[in-house]
Amino acid sequence: MTSELVQLSLDGPIATVVLNREEKLNALNSEMLAALEEYADVLDRSQDVRVVLMTGTGRAFCVGADIIEWSDLTPLEMGRRWIRDGHRIFARYARLPQPVIAVLNGYTFGGGLELALAADLRLAAAGAQLSFPEVKLGIIPGWGGTQRLGQLVGPSRAKQMIFSGERVDAEVAERWGLVNEIVPGEQLAQRARELAEAIAANGPVAVQMSKQLIDAAAADRGEGGAVMESLAGSLASYTADAQEGVSAFRQRRAPRFSGR
Ligand code: COA
Repeated sequence: MTSELVQLSLDGPIATVVLNREEKLNALNSEMLAALEEYADVLDRSQDVRVVLMTGTGRAFCVGADIIEWSDLTPLEMGRRWIRDGHRIFARYARLPQPVIAVLNGYTFGGGLELALAADLRLAAAGAQLSFPEVKLGIIPGWGGTQRLGQLVGPSRAKQMIFSGERVDAEVAERWGLVNEIVPGEQLAQRARELAEAIAANGPVAVQMSKQLIDAAAADRGEGGAVMESLAGSLASYTADAQEGVSAFRQRRAPRFSGR
């Protein structure tokens, strides 16, 4: 299965995954998740690919999970499939042997930020904005955001972002260590390419072992958080507030939350 909505191109040692659903700001639907998983298989097995770039077309990297799609799922579909699928697929990228660089060309929200957090490094275009807007819909980040954000920026900043849903611009994100570098938009692809080439020129075994060692140092935390996030994510998606949040989004109005 290949999808027009996510494209994989291989160019020598550099692979590029492009989220290509520009008219929906690259919101992730199940077809895109399946394509991402298929490409993770290809990349995982490749002896030739040394670096993976991941980016989006248009004005967004990705604005998160497709609200229209997930809001039609039953609670069991949500817990057994949607949330588990995202966790499994994003973890595949986090655990790829090769370094993965997320190239944030614009809006990076919700599930899009969770995908970027699964990468090893993040480059951001100067105007990029990052946020976890889930609480504005009455739900929580369910694809690893509550787990990976705090590890990167510390619990206090993670709580600020996740509790408020406020956008963080590229400068703040860089200061917080959420992105590695800010690059003027028109130079982003070139800088990503340069960095990928610099990494690809290094000993691949050394690079890949370094990745595993750095990740192993941070991994002593068990899988309990992912299980909790799956359960809480399923639950939170079916509150009255989640219904109100989705309705408000569909109707393009401000939500009125009741705390139920
Ligand atoms: N899921 C599904 N569709 C989405 C989407 C999402 N997460 N985010 C945006 N879209 C769609 C819009 O519905 C619109 O589709 P349409 O043209 O068929 O109406 C299209 O993408 C463009 O978005 P639009 O809202 O018109 O662009 P904008 O520049 O005015 O606003 C955002 C951009 C990102 C601020 C706004 O789309 C937004 O808040 N999206 C929701 C982000 C979110 O809550 N993510 C977490 C999801 S769990």
